[in-house]
Amino acid sequence: MPEWNSIAELRVIRRLAEMLNRRWNLGLGFAEPDGSLLQGGRFERFATRRPLCELVQSTAAGRERCAATAAGMLEQYRAGGGCGASTYLCHAGLSEFFVPLEVEGELLGLVLAGGALCARELDSQRATIFARCDELGLGAREVESALARTTVLAPEDEQTLAELIELVVAEILVYREEMARKERRLDRLTRQLADRSSYDQIVGKSQPMQELYRLLDKISATDATVLIEGENGTGKELVARAIHFNSARAQRPFVVQNCSAFNDNLLDSELFGHSRGAFTGAVGNKKGLFEVADGGTFFLDEIGDMSPALQVKLLRILQEGTFIPVGSTREKRVDVRIIAATNRDLKQLVERGLFREDLYFRVNVIGVTLPSLRQRREDIPLLVEHFLHKHAPERQVRLSAGSLQRLLDYNWPGNVRELENEIERLLVLCSDDEVIREEFLSPRIRYEVYSPQGSGEQTALPAAIEQLERTMILDHLKRARWNKTRAAETLGISRRNLIRKVQNYGLERRRNH
Ligand SMILES: Nc1ncnc2c1ncn2[C@@H]1O[C@H](COP(=O)(O)OP(=O)(O)OP(=O)(O)O)[C@@H](O)[C@H]1O
Ligand SMILES: [Mg+2]
Repeated sequence: MPEWNSIAELRVIRRLAEMLNRRWNLGLGFAEPDGSLLQGGRFERFATRRPLCELVQSTAAGRERCAATAAGMLEQYRAGGGCGASTYLCHAGLSEFFVPLEVEGELLGLVLAGGALCARELDSQRATIFARCDELGLGAREVESALARTTVLAPEDEQTLAELIELVVAEILVYREEMARKERRLDRLTRQLADRSSYDQIVGKSQPMQELYRLLDKISATDATVLIEGENGTGKELVARAIHFNSARAQRPFVVQNCSAFNDNLLDSELFGHSRGAFTGAVGNKKGLFEVADGGTFFLDEIGDMSPALQVKLLRILQEGTFIPVGSTREKRVDVRIIAATNRDLKQLVERGLFREDLYFRVNVIGVTLPSLRQRREDIPLLVEHFLHKHAPERQVRLSAGSLQRLLDYNWPGNVRELENEIERLLVLCSDDEVIREEFLSPRIRYEVYSPQGSGEQTALPAAIEQLERTMILDHLKRARWNKTRAAETLGISRRNLIRKVQNYGLERRRNH
């Protein structure tokens, strides 16, 4: 169906209708393919007062017959076809003109104008009208009076009128085509956006990742503030982007600011803007990033590094949606969704009095904790493949079984980012080799797990212990052919304890182990 209501608003259609009205006192009408006329509302403006029509419609039978006019035109059209303007004699005997609105053989409606007399056959037309009005019980005098005020179209007027209606139809078709084009474009953009926004960029099929995706689905549908916690390089920013591009704010800005990157004053003016003269060098008013992000999402990275003064300002934004630019007294209001991230233990910072507790609760409305790579080792082969393709799309290169095994055994303190860096490095080192051999691996990855003490690097005690524990468990499990009861025995711990540690370290049995 054409968008009748929008069509009625088109300037060109309104102008054409005005011309019909001014020139011949004729209205413009539209009908659905079932013959019903579009009336009232915004179609009212196309109507005119035609004396004879008003007279006829003062009777019930006349009104009924009038309402069937478009249906009669459709019948004539279906019987005779044709696509230009046709003439039609209405039930009362007046001349009507109509043009079918047809697209690719499908009738979408009619455009019509009329209710006039034609000079060519004035006498016979008048006779018919008197006879029909008589049938309706209308007196000859009133009919005569109405006819005297009815437009008489000269033959050249008929021609122009037909052309005008054809023009209206042509405009409607252009409009429809334009709308269809816009819709196709919108579809394409929506699809593009969906590609960008789905979790395509986030690689991982492990259990912790499945849970993450489920959580992200829920979060994206809300407007709640989110706190993303996770070790370095676990994908906090990636996840923040995914939330934004899957949310209703996707079309609005996604703004990122690292809270530890600047000194406090700079960060303040960066976030909230400043007014002219607020400090030396503030030559003009400057918009803060919160204003830039208005309507969108603000990703505050390393929020644990924010100073107490800025924490207060942030709290105010979260509570009231308002802030005051540096050096200004005027309050500003913004609608921004905040996603914060940290790799520090924010709760502990609260306990140590370094992070405001009220802010912590405001920020941590929904908490997302990203799994470390150690907790999802089975995703390593997928990630390796992803990064090989990402950094060398044109090359057919893969890791040797031994190399992959080393990556699977390594502890990954730097998580996905460290893995990505390692892959990039390997791609450079292995030149054109198709298979990347172990000898190219970074020494820490090649040796560390098997001799943590001898790595020569300064490792903190808890991390070193963790690594040793992991290596030992893996060794014992392998020797016990993955029989956990036996491995627990040789390790000297309970089976339950072993199972917990196996889960912790992501040491579930896999082909690659
Ligand atoms: N699940 C994942 N799938 C694919 N790539 C990932 C994944 N997680 C992280 N990455 C990639 O690893 C790199 C680091 O990710 P990101 O910057 O989001 O981590 P981060 O947690 O913000 O790190 P940091 O704490 O160091 O700021 C990016 O190149 C990112 O694309
Ligand atoms: Mg980051």
